[in-house]
Amino acid sequence: MALVLPTISSMTASTRTRYVVNLGNAELIPLGEGREFQVGGMAIAVFRTRDGIFATQVACPHMGGPLADSLVGANVIVCPMHSCTYEIRTGVPVGHNYGTLRTFPATINLQGEILVTLEDHDPVVMRERS
Ligand code: FES
Repeated sequence: MALVLPTISSMTASTRTRYVVNLGNAELIPLGEGREFQVGGMAIAVFRTRDGIFATQVACPHMGGPLADSLVGANVIVCPMHSCTYEIRTGVPVGHNYGTLRTFPATINLQGEILVTLEDHDPVVMRERS
């Protein structure tokens, strides 16, 4: 299920510009599950766990499986297609060599909203500039 993206704000780090994207209320994602969000021209998978909120690329490096539909375990996600496992915080593959997931810094603000940080080379940011 794809959810919508509301707002983008920016902050500047030394040589890169980072953009904080507000994806809305974290409770839109049931605890222990993931959801796909469309952020401009890019899709990301966002997971809500007891340890916080995490964001990764949406497609599994193995054969493009929908990672937002992964099983969410203790510190890992398991792709629903062929069970490739990745560390949820780092995207590092567990027990296979199909590649490391791209991850995005994510947090929940005081209002309970999901904030995901993108960098200036991410597609959504490039689209905002053009
Ligand atoms: S597509 Fe994800 S494990 Fe095969």
